[in-house]
Amino acid sequence: MKLLIATGNSGKLREFQELLGGLLEGGKHELVSLKDVGIDAPEEPHETFHENAAEKARHAAQKSGLWALADDSGICVDALNGGPGVRSARFADTDEARRQKLLQHLSSFPMSRRGAHFFCAAALSSPDGQKLFRTEGRVDGRIATAARGDGGFGYDPLFIPAEIGTKTLAELPQEEKNRLSHRGRALARMSPLLMKLLHEGKLD
Ligand code: IMP
Repeated sequence: MKLLIATGNSGKLREFQELLGGLLEGGKHELVSLKDVGIDAPEEPHETFHENAAEKARHAAQKSGLWALADDSGICVDALNGGPGVRSARFADTDEARRQKLLQHLSSFPMSRRGAHFFCAAALSSPDGQKLFRTEGRVDGRIATAARGDGGFGYDPLFIPAEIGTKTLAELPQEEKNRLSHRGRALARMSPLLMKLLHEGKLD
C-alpha cells in the first residue's frame, strides 16, 4: 500500500519519513511524496491549523487517489498574541528572513517574556476525501535571543523546548527533536490509525 505524505516542505517530509519509517514493515508499504506523484501543494486559505491540514490532506488524496497524510504547523509566540501562528510560513520569504524578523520583533523582550509553542495539526484523508482523521501535538518553550544550531529546519534554531531548558531544537539530535516535537506528538497520536490502515487497507 502507498501512503501519500502531502507536503512540499523538504524538512517536514524528512521528519514524516523518520517518524513513520517504523510502521512500514520492511518494504511492504511505501511512503510517496507530492513530488513523486506530481501534485502541487494547495494554498492555505484558512484561519486555523486544523482547517488547513484537512484541506491539504483532502486535496492530495482526491488528486492522487491515495490515502494522504498532511500537517499544518507553525510557531505561536505569546508576546505576538500567538503569531505568526497559522501564518508562520508566510511571515517572510525565506527561513533566514523569518528568523530575523521574529528576533527583531522580540528584541526588547527579556527571556521571561519570550514564551512560545509549536503547534501541529495532522490530517489523514481517504482517497475520496470523505473520511478525515485528525490529531494534534504541541511543544512549549521559549524563543532564544539568537539563532543556534544546524539541525532541523525553519524556526528550530530559535526555539528552546521547556523540557530541554538550554539547547534549541536545531542543536538536538534529530531523533530527540522527533521525540518531543509538535509533529512527533501529532503523528504518535495518529500511528494507531495508520497501523490499522496499513494492516487492513481501510479505516471505518
Ligand atoms: P505550513 O504548515 O506549510 O503552513 O508551514 C509551517 C511553517 O511553520 C514552516 O514553513 C516553518 O517555517 C514553521 N514550522 C513548522 N514546523 C516547524 C518545525 O518543526 N520546525 C521549525 N519550523 C517549523
